[in-house]
Amino acid sequence: MLRSKIGGIGYYVPEKVVTNHDLMKVMDTSDEWIQERTGIVERRYAKKHEETTATMGVEAAKIAIERAGITAKDVDMIIFATLSPDYYFPGSGVLLQRMLGMNGIGALDIRNQCSGFVYGLSIADQFVKTGMYKNVLLVGSEFHSCGLDFTTRGRNVSVIFGDGAGAVVIQPTDKENQGILSTHLHADGDGAEKLAYFNPGCHGGTFLDKEKFGYPDQEYGGIFLTDKMIEDEDIYPYMEGQAVFKFAVTKFPEVIMEALETNGYTKEDIDMLIPHQANLRISQFVQHRLKLPDNKVWNNIQKYGNTTAASIPIALCEAWEAGAVKEGDLVCLAAFGSGFTWASALLRW
Ligand code: UT7
Repeated sequence: MLRSKIGGIGYYVPEKVVTNHDLMKVMDTSDEWIQERTGIVERRYAKKHEETTATMGVEAAKIAIERAGITAKDVDMIIFATLSPDYYFPGSGVLLQRMLGMNGIGALDIRNQCSGFVYGLSIADQFVKTGMYKNVLLVGSEFHSCGLDFTTRGRNVSVIFGDGAGAVVIQPTDKENQGILSTHLHADGDGAEKLAYFNPGCHGGTFLDKEKFGYPDQEYGGIFLTDKMIEDEDIYPYMEGQAVFKFAVTKFPEVIMEALETNGYTKEDIDMLIPHQANLRISQFVQHRLKLPDNKVWNNIQKYGNTTAASIPIALCEAWEAGAVKEGDLVCLAAFGSGFTWASALLRW
């Protein structure tokens, strides 16, 4: 069987820098609180009415496609990972396809939040190593700032997230010791309501407090998005931060070790760990647990916040551009997020 590799990689972050001090102007928070609890100093916000999740994905994709030595016409399939799509449906994949003029190829939209990129990588890997496709474009892009609660009520979530996009082209390789060695995907739906964006949705309160959300008891319609949800502002992401934190610090080391053990490696063999940029404290906990030196873990949450599906490709691209990921290096990608979902991938660069 063939093996697949990352043949090209790119990222895009919007120009607008929003510092912790900027957020202090609109909500009751402090630079000290945000830095101490998350490590974040600033993040980027996309330009409303001009940029979207799809347009940011396009910018990242153009760079990845060029670096892969192909043109947009050579792409065989698109995989688009996001939790902040342009439309509820259709997914952002077809918008990217339209903008890049790649008519006719398949566009698969996936919804695995912070694990979206690694889930997407696993899907792309299967298509390439079976020989079905030669160039799969995988994009992770997020426009969080358009859907956050910027009042004090939403501060535990809003200060964490930022906008941006990353993309890779997955291609076959015939080199013996190169490419994606394995991917590992996991989920536990018991955590579904711990980090979620409930509305609009057709759950009709099934798993939630019906009184609180005001689901009308009518035969048809009316439960997708009600006036009461809007009045009560139940239209923002919900997160039980500490529960998420606890699960993350258990699952990150587990899934990294799973990837290493599957391939007969130990943690000492890792040249670079790219963790999903959820919280600097989570990354530091994982680094400490695995006893990895600073130069083997890439962190950029300080500059971009948590960009969900975009965070791993942005961090991987930055690390590669900085020369911190080189040919022959053993690179581990690891993610954790809403679902709960978690995943890892081990690559020989
Ligand atoms: O990609 C995966 C996505 N999510 C995550 O990985 C998140 C994982 N969780 C976390 O990163 C942390 O739980 C947070 C950073 C979200 C919160 O940190 P924490 O240390 O767990 O704080 P907390 O939620 O226990 O809140 C402590 C206090 C509360 O005040 P009281 O009740 O002690 O008076 C909060 O109201 O901090 C308050 N608080 C804030 N204060 C200033 C919450 N958000 C803020 C804020 N600024 N932005």
